[in-house]
Amino acid sequence: MSAANSNPAPRILVTGATGRLGRLLVPRLRERGAVVRAFTRQVANAAALADQSRHERAPFEVAVGDLEDRASLRRAFEGVSHLFLLSPIVPALAAQQIAAIEAAAEAGVRRIVKLSGSHWTIEPPGRSLSGDAHARIEAALAATGIAHRVLRPNAWTQVVLARLAAELAAGDVLHAPPGLPRVAYIDARDIADVAVEALLDDADDAPPGPWVLTGARAVDHGELARIAAGLSARPVVAEPLSPQELAARQAQAPSPYIAQVHAQFAALIGAGEAATVTDTVERVLGRPPRRIEDFVAESLAA
Ligand SMILES: NC(=O)c1ccc[n+]([C@@H]2O[C@H](COP(=O)([O-])OP(=O)(O)OC[C@H]3O[C@@H](n4cnc5c(N)ncnc54)[C@H](OP(=O)(O)O)[C@@H]3O)[C@@H](O)[C@H]2O)c1
Repeated sequence: MSAANSNPAPRILVTGATGRLGRLLVPRLRERGAVVRAFTRQVANAAALADQSRHERAPFEVAVGDLEDRASLRRAFEGVSHLFLLSPIVPALAAQQIAAIEAAAEAGVRRIVKLSGSHWTIEPPGRSLSGDAHARIEAALAATGIAHRVLRPNAWTQVVLARLAAELAAGDVLHAPPGLPRVAYIDARDIADVAVEALLDDADDAPPGPWVLTGARAVDHGELARIAAGLSARPVVAEPLSPQELAARQAQAPSPYIAQVHAQFAALIGAGEAATVTDTVERVLGRPPRRIEDFVAESLAA
């Protein structure tokens, strides 16, 4: 893709800046010379971001506000040219993000990149609570007429395989979800790299429509165990979670709503919906996605 950048010093409001993906995105944007304004409910949450970014070039700003508070959104958008829109799955997801889109439109924001749900949670409609919410936001975004890009990342390696390092530290057993599904996990660092391009590169040769982001191949826990065994020379194996362990994990959900969302994801992943591979990451970045082998190696070293 062309490296052309028609807006050399955009000021980008990043919602979710202090979260898992936002923390990866902010330094990347600053490295590219963008002025980043982090939107957070508590200024202290952005302190680590400011530290992380202190050796980089462009100024870093913080806007304290809440997606539930329209006045704070209006203040946050003053002087902003671009929006990166991300917020967590809550019952008010659609209302919160649509409020941000409306405030962006009022402020004359020129470009919006929305971090959406995984493609298989959104299409066809009616598959999941969060996918339907993301679909409503995508429709509201399209209706503004503002230049925009929707990112639909597959299951994130660092989130869905968050237990891998602890399991490998504890022994030689990886606990596999029911049905041993194959998943084309995407590394969160690749999502952040793609988000930078989506925000800063408005070249005409970009793939059209929502960008469905996946890793280079789909693996199941048997394959993850074989990779870990090969790297560590240990007898690592995959074993299905017992019904008790599964119930214990489900009970950790912070609310009944999230428990329902997670159950919907588990059913769709179990049916193989997250196994589809796309070439979007390579088309956008000009290099293949990060390899699952390298994530397993990092987990072993952690
Ligand atoms: N994990 C996956 O596999 C996956 C796959 C596809 C899509 N997604 C999407 O990824 C998104 C979650 O991303 P993430 O994991 O990076 O999020 P996250 O770590 O949960 O962070 C979300 C951030 O949003 C901010 N926030 C929460 N409520 C807010 C409010 N009312 N007003 C203003 N800011 C608020 C918080 O900042 P403060 O606390 O500092 O205010 C927090 O740092 C969801 O939309 C989900 O659908 C995830």
